[in-house]
Amino acid sequence: MAVQISPSILSADFARLADEAAAVPNADWLHVDVMDYHFVPNLTLGLPVVESLHKATSLPLDCHLMIADPDRWAPAYAEAGAGSVTIHAEATRAPVRTLRQIRSLGARAALALNPGTAVEPYEGLLGEVDMLLLMTVEPGFGGQKFLDMVLPKIRTARSLVRRHGGQVWIQVDGGVDTTTIERCAEAGADVFVAGSAVYGADDPAAAVDALRAQAAA
Ligand code: DX5
Ligand code: ZN
Repeated sequence: MAVQISPSILSADFARLADEAAAVPNADWLHVDVMDYHFVPNLTLGLPVVESLHKATSLPLDCHLMIADPDRWAPAYAEAGAGSVTIHAEATRAPVRTLRQIRSLGARAALALNPGTAVEPYEGLLGEVDMLLLMTVEPGFGGQKFLDMVLPKIRTARSLVRRHGGQVWIQVDGGVDTTTIERCAEAGADVFVAGSAVYGADDPAAAVDALRAQAAA
């Protein structure tokens, strides 16, 4: 399983997003956190920024929708050029329909679970997703401390995916840095979001390389 690194622009300079994307040419994805002041107590960016960013970078955009009504808005992110669109299990009311719409528009579809949300009830949706996102902090802010309590859930998710047989990536997001990434990889994660660990570093590209090396260690 190849390690994939997805730097989160939440920790970048929002006035210089094209430059910040260009600073991580060695990344696999660019993680874009969409927040709406309802699902999470923070507000970031929406469709117009995703459309512009898609034109400004060749990195595929990994759009993480932390919004109250993903069923209404997720397809538009796929249309705006997102490479993947992630909806939260806690917010969607029609996951099958929304995940299928995302895929039919040519993007990868992903389902996110907050730290306190169990993965077992979603086993039946594994055929509808390309990726499961297991939050390793409560969503809303960058720079929070990694929650070790999520590690057993990563293991459970990995065994469910193995049993399912299909190709489903397991992504972790929140507090991922060169010390926590190894534990996540060992538990079965293969896609790693990192905000402050990348954009808080003097050399973001070197930070991406360091994370990749630690994850593979
Ligand atoms: C938080 C976001 C994360 C955030 C992670 O709700 O979903 O993507 O950028 O930031 P770090 O890596 O600093 O914890
Ligand atoms: Zn995120």
